[in-house]
Amino acid sequence: MAESFPMNGGNGVYSYTKNSLLQRNVADNAKLMVREAIIENLDIQTKTFVIVDMGCSVGPNTFFAMQNVVQAIKHKYHSTCSQIEFHVFFNDHVTNDFNVLFESLFSDHQKTYFAAAIPGSFYGRLFPSRSIHVAYSCYALQWLSRVPKGLIDKKNKGRIHYDGASIDVWNAYVDQFEKDMEVFLSARANEMVHGGLIVLVLPSIPSEQHSKIGYRIFTFVESSLIDMVNEGIVEESLVDSFNLPLYFPSDEDMTKVVEKNGCFSIEKLEITCLQCNIDAKSFIIHIRAGFEGIFTKHFGSKITYEIFERTLGKIEEIEAWLETEYYKTTRQLFMVLKCKKLIL
Ligand SMILES: C[S@@+](CC[C@H](N)C(=O)[O-])C[C@H]1O[C@@H](n2cnc3c(N)ncnc32)[C@H](O)[C@@H]1O
Repeated sequence: MAESFPMNGGNGVYSYTKNSLLQRNVADNAKLMVREAIIENLDIQTKTFVIVDMGCSVGPNTFFAMQNVVQAIKHKYHSTCSQIEFHVFFNDHVTNDFNVLFESLFSDHQKTYFAAAIPGSFYGRLFPSRSIHVAYSCYALQWLSRVPKGLIDKKNKGRIHYDGASIDVWNAYVDQFEKDMEVFLSARANEMVHGGLIVLVLPSIPSEQHSKIGYRIFTFVESSLIDMVNEGIVEESLVDSFNLPLYFPSDEDMTKVVEKNGCFSIEKLEITCLQCNIDAKSFIIHIRAGFEGIFTKHFGSKITYEIFERTLGKIEEIEAWLETEYYKTTRQLFMVLKCKKLIL
């Protein structure tokens, strides 16, 4: 079973609902590409389209994304079928705050589709065979199903991710990513109808920079932890045994896993730049909204609070990194897959 570390629920100051502008920008940047991909590639005759957002979190981004998918399908079929209905499934871990999601869905949005939750990991079966027409996922597939097995036994000493780590650590992450993607694609090949589309948007690190950099913000968080070890507040072994289950694939990585799986054709694969500017403080709070859960599970809430407070103290360094590196080098991967071979 996949480990589960959902985003912060509720509506508080550190909630994902209030701190997901970065992801909203990503979805906005991809909006036209998603629309075009559906209009160009979806060729299915049905009166009820079944759509899923995998890794939807608590909103509001998922609502805009699903509305965009629904509008694109309506646009595509308006002249041939005027009575199409839509069934949208919101998927995330069972521990996701689905209450917040459905409360805001029904209060703020016009219901142009029937909605339901599908709790569970997308690294496994979620639906009956041949029932899904469009599967969408934005900024969720970078989460691995677990910390790579090879990193147990404190093999990544003093680090919490693969940024700047040894090649063995790097290989352990690649290995886990490839295994997870095979499970993901095989599950979808069972669930999707022939010709169904998977639309993916996720953060990406270009191949040439791979293994040298991960998601550098974590090195700032890591250095807060190391400071706390040096001051005797956190035990060194606790840091050594903690690793983030995240991998940022390149376009080559994605092509390799899709081709190996063999059930989907790649209809589109594009790398785009990140068009977003948020200040360093908001950036750190975004990271907190996304990762507080996983840190708390390992370090407890007191240490986790201190980690993020100390990282806020590095605001000038982080501001400089955002300007000189992050916004210039961060890439988004946009991929459209069409189901060509069903697993029965
Ligand atoms: C950064 S949030 C993105 C949320 C939303 N798609 C957006 O664009 O704002 C990533 C989400 O993926 C979910 N997630 C991660 N791994 C998952 C898995 N194996 N199965 C289902 N959801 C998962 C997390 O719980 C989290 O809610």
